[in-house]
Amino acid sequence: MFPGAVSTVTIHVAGTYTGDSELAVQVLADPTDLTSWTTIATAMADATQAFAADVQPVDSSADAARWPQGGVLRLRVVDGAGSGVALPYDANQPSLTTIAVASPAGAPADWQYLTQKAPGSDAETSAYYTAIDAPTTLAAFQSTYGFGGASEAAAKYYNLGDLGIGRDMHCVATAAAGGVACYVTNYGTFGGDQGSAIAALEAATTPLATVAMVYTPPISAPNAVTFMVYGATGSLATHAQLDTVGNNVSIPQNCINCHGGQSSYAATSHAATGARFLQFDPNAFAFPTDDASLTLDAQQAQLAALDQLAMQAAPTDAEQEVITGSWPSATFDASFIPDAWNDSDHDARLYTDVLAPYCRACHVSNDAGNLTFQTPADLMANADKTIAAVCGTGPIGMPVAQQTTARFFGSGARALLLEWLGAPGACAGQ
Ligand code: HEC
Ligand code: HEC
Repeated sequence: MFPGAVSTVTIHVAGTYTGDSELAVQVLADPTDLTSWTTIATAMADATQAFAADVQPVDSSADAARWPQGGVLRLRVVDGAGSGVALPYDANQPSLTTIAVASPAGAPADWQYLTQKAPGSDAETSAYYTAIDAPTTLAAFQSTYGFGGASEAAAKYYNLGDLGIGRDMHCVATAAAGGVACYVTNYGTFGGDQGSAIAALEAATTPLATVAMVYTPPISAPNAVTFMVYGATGSLATHAQLDTVGNNVSIPQNCINCHGGQSSYAATSHAATGARFLQFDPNAFAFPTDDASLTLDAQQAQLAALDQLAMQAAPTDAEQEVITGSWPSATFDASFIPDAWNDSDHDARLYTDVLAPYCRACHVSNDAGNLTFQTPADLMANADKTIAAVCGTGPIGMPVAQQTTARFFGSGARALLLEWLGAPGACAGQ
């Protein structure tokens, strides 16, 4: 992954070579044409069999097609002055000869967010609130579900993964519903910076909004999981914008884009089906650094307690796997990888650098089927759909939420994912 504009990137290519011919550093002139290798530099191995060259793949506008901003550049070294054998970049894996190099991009300008599940209207949300008998104020919500007692779990953090705002989270096992209730007061601004959101969270200045959920068993019933939003002054709000674009501000329709892969909302009965609580993933959070009581260490017991409450809210198999794996003891295991993803370094890296940070939060809320991505075979079964969803054609793509998408496109994760899927030529132009 090379940050910055591709036109400024110089790559140091170095290795060892035991032969005596001239080496050619090559890139694809047209990233969609996997035969369009072109030599951009040459090198000779020295007496110690070492070679090196500094190459600038895009050194003029005439070469811009080689590596679009946000796209992937493929690079290799070939002996015989470019007509011989491509050198492996890992001596133990002779067939691996092409190095994929990514550059970051802004998220696609024309994408819509949170519209996998379609928006509704303020009137529909009012009818939904009536159907679920939503408490009309945050204070009424807190007293209805029994917040404030010793069994309440709470934590403060910045959700870096999917929302980009400060969170003051509270959950309880509640007798009133026979299940679990949570509310989370949000601070900062969508699209704003992390430092200001954390400062607002710590100062508890005027919140953005408080969002709330209740689980009433059984999970299979319509509205087993309900969603409410309370505005800054604590009264029920009929819409909530959760990013800078606001393509879907409807409650619960925008919530269920994340809270339940197989969820759906029926306006005729004002009922959400298949909605889910989500797991708490400290890897997706940032913690205040200027308050010793708010570090991950200091809040670990509360985060574990929050995840234990999520375990009581009928989590899917995939969610249970993440929660139990992440908390093998009272200490959070930040490097948890499910067994199915841990058979090879190749799979493990995909899980750690792509699936866990950019896909897992939502996808484990699928009850069943291969969109849980619980195994490499699950993801591979969705290879074509995944390529289409991450290559930027839009207007609906993956990862669905604006914050997640911005971070995904700004990282090397897309290149890793495409390489893992065996589609190194995909997304070349985006
Ligand atoms: C972009 C994805 C996303 C959307 C949209 C979203 N949430 Fe969440 N929500 C999360 C994640 C991730 C968590 C887990 C805790 C965290 O990361 O802060 C969560 C947790 C929660 C919790 C704590 C209970 C639990 O599931 O762990 C509540 C309450 C909540 N959300 C309410 C809402 C409501 C109400 C809406 C709609 C107005 C909504 N959320 C929309 C991602 C989302
Ligand atoms: C913010 C939530 C969210 C995130 C993050 C997310 N997805 Fe999805 N994804 C969904 C929803 C919702 C659906 C629709 C249905 C479902 O899950 O069953 C979906 C569907 C898909 C599909 C099926 C698309 C089709 O055409 O049928 C693929 C493939 C997919 N996602 C891949 C990914 C990958 C890969 C990532 C990570 C790079 C990712 N998603 C991240 C919410 C998300």
